[in-house]
Amino acid sequence: MVTGTLCPGCGKCYIFRQMSDNPFIRLPVPKPDPIFAISAEALKAGQDAINGTIGVFMDENGETVLFPSVKKAIAEIAPTLPDMRYSYPPLLGLPEFRSAVEKLIFSDSEIHAASIATTAGTGALAVNLRLLKMLTDSGEIYLQSPAWANHPPPSSDAGFKIIEIPYLADGKASAGPLVEEIKKRKSRNSFAVLLQVGCHNPTGLDLSTEGWRQLADFLAGKPCTVLLDFAYQGFKDEPEKDREYIKTYLSKGIPTLISWSASKNHSIYSLRTGLACAVVTDDRMKETVEGIYSMITRRIHSAAATLGQKVVAVVQEKYPSEWRADLKNARKIMHEKRSMMHDLLPDNFKSPLEGFGMFAMLPLSESQVAGLKKQNVFLTLDGRINIAGIPMKRIEELCEKIRKII
Ligand SMILES: Cc1ncc(COP(=O)(O)O)c(C=O)c1O
Repeated sequence: MVTGTLCPGCGKCYIFRQMSDNPFIRLPVPKPDPIFAISAEALKAGQDAINGTIGVFMDENGETVLFPSVKKAIAEIAPTLPDMRYSYPPLLGLPEFRSAVEKLIFSDSEIHAASIATTAGTGALAVNLRLLKMLTDSGEIYLQSPAWANHPPPSSDAGFKIIEIPYLADGKASAGPLVEEIKKRKSRNSFAVLLQVGCHNPTGLDLSTEGWRQLADFLAGKPCTVLLDFAYQGFKDEPEKDREYIKTYLSKGIPTLISWSASKNHSIYSLRTGLACAVVTDDRMKETVEGIYSMITRRIHSAAATLGQKVVAVVQEKYPSEWRADLKNARKIMHEKRSMMHDLLPDNFKSPLEGFGMFAMLPLSESQVAGLKKQNVFLTLDGRINIAGIPMKRIEELCEKIRKII
């Protein structure tokens, strides 16, 4: 029952007479999301702002890039939209999308995968973390820190106890601290590990191929399941090369889940398209895992939306070589911007800029980041910069501003 009276001011809304009866009043006021909040500030600052905040690939005019191959696929789908079927999609997603992405991740090899379409990479993580929790006796998950800002919250929401391990040793990505910590484990109960496959967010620094292989050697035979966050396939190298990191784990028989995203590598951030998958041994196991995936997604928001899945399926079916060329071009641009910054900034910035993908973590204090904001340069407080968001023509200006502030 509404215990209110119409507002005398507007005559439309209700003023609650008894505010203490209103349950919302007891909610803690959350902090705004650090990345979305600063990104909104940068957008509000307009064209003069240098926006190194949210992980979006931008063009020279500061507009989000839509890859030409993806644009073609969208143009092809557009006329079919009025006559499309708008009933509920299958809980697992569109079969043509799932098989296209499985092919990208695993190629045509013998691998059996259980999969489900998700609401982008974030949804794929959320779904996989819930499945992972069911597989993990200890309820413990190892995360390398700094982790992507959206790794710890869904891990604890899935019921995990998080064990945070340093990711950098002497400024370089290292599996050493993770290995040492796992060696110290007394419990024989199974545990979980969450790793990023390439273009590490927020540092841009990845384990070397050898370091990645050594970690897989170490984890093989341990009672663990690994969740690989594969949000940047094709951003470090050719998609086929990037998936080699995953193969290292599979070849050693490590139980593996993969969270894949189309946001960056198909430039469809707003279509929220992703895939969660698990490597299984046979069709029976696939059926079981897909049943569990369906159960998990049904409880969150039922099936994922299908437009982005359609786009990915058409790109992969009709424009695969153009798509590879778009990715190659994106990698070239990111590499050039990174190299320019590497050349224009002082020595202590060089090693943080020797990574891959969109991000680097610049050695800036919070007050220096705040100082840059006064000059219309927007970064997250930890010094993370989205290099792919800065127009090439403004890199010099950015570096000059950074040099002045340090
Ligand atoms: C490491 C990592 N994982 C997953 C994602 C998921 O992104 P989305 O939910 O936009 O697909 C991102 C996006 O920034 C990321 O950096």
